[in-house]
Amino acid sequence: MKRIVSGIQPTGSINIGTYLGSLKNFVKLQDQLPDHEFYIFIADLHAITVPKEKQFLRQKIKELAAIYIACGLDPKRVNLFIQSEVPAHSQMAYLLQCHSYMGELERMTQFKDKSKKQEKGVTVGLFSYPTLMAGDILLYDAEYVPVGQDQKQHLELTRDIANRVNNRYGDFFTVPEPLIAEVGAKIMSLTEPTSKMSKSDTNIKSRIELLDPENIIKKRINSAMTDSLGTIKFDQEARPGISNLITIYSSITGKTYEEIENIYDGKGYKEFKEDLGEIVYQELKPIQDRYNELLNSKELTEILDNGRENASKIAYKKIMKFNNKIGLGRK
Ligand code: AMP
Ligand code: TRP
Repeated sequence: MKRIVSGIQPTGSINIGTYLGSLKNFVKLQDQLPDHEFYIFIADLHAITVPKEKQFLRQKIKELAAIYIACGLDPKRVNLFIQSEVPAHSQMAYLLQCHSYMGELERMTQFKDKSKKQEKGVTVGLFSYPTLMAGDILLYDAEYVPVGQDQKQHLELTRDIANRVNNRYGDFFTVPEPLIAEVGAKIMSLTEPTSKMSKSDTNIKSRIELLDPENIIKKRINSAMTDSLGTIKFDQEARPGISNLITIYSSITGKTYEEIENIYDGKGYKEFKEDLGEIVYQELKPIQDRYNELLNSKELTEILDNGRENASKIAYKKIMKFNNKIGLGRK
């Protein structure tokens, strides 16, 4: 059976960048690829690569689980689980660290960025993070991995590690392909449209969170940075602000950039932003309603238990086979 694997870190509140770049894509794929199995998880082991307060982490894990389902993941189609509840993920990370090189991890741009931003101790976990991610994927022999643009380099590393292991021990891992959304793979900050919309940005106005109320959603769009030209035309390089808003519009409505430009031909930012505020709100409202029903429900607990059981079976088998392949333990 062909498999699709992906995860999101429970590190903060989910914003529309993660939603449009990642979550929405999962939902689309589950409908488009009925013959694939889906393993989607809450990447809590990844979250502790930068130290987290215990209560905060617990809360974010639960919230993210509810968000996944509220966004439309179908628990009948998708195995949703919490990464740390399947111990093979940490075990695989260690085994893959012994098949990766310092030099290739040092080249990871996300590590360079994150370690520069941190004032206090950078953990070994942050450095080795891409090997944990490679393990997440290779454990399930995933064929496709839907991610946003920023994860492409980690996927390339995963492929390199898989090929290295396959060359050394004979075919063992499926070499995965990234699946990057055509539109929405990189939603930019609303206040600084040349950098990515991020949950760690200290400026709250830079993003719209999935659970933001109507007035905040509309306020954030209205105050989003544009330029002085006043026309609705997509031009990523010269006009990143309006282009980002057009991208958000396009990935929610499915309209092309050109169609959007035609609708707003002769109209200004005010009208465009008012419409976009309403479009974003209408997209998020049903998600928020469903989220509130799910958050403390037995239904959610059962979904996560079931996901853990199914994921554990596959992951345990693979890790034991890998131990054996390498020559660990007894045959
Ligand atoms: P994270 O929220 O950083 O754990 O990322 C979860 C997924 O969302 C990954 O596949 C990211 O590539 C994607 N993602 C995060 N931020 C954005 C963004 N601003 N635009 C598009 N995709 C994003
Ligand atoms: N590293 C990813 C991120 O920060 C999340 C992630 C962890 C992931 N493991 C994964 C994504 C495996 C895809 C597959 O966005």
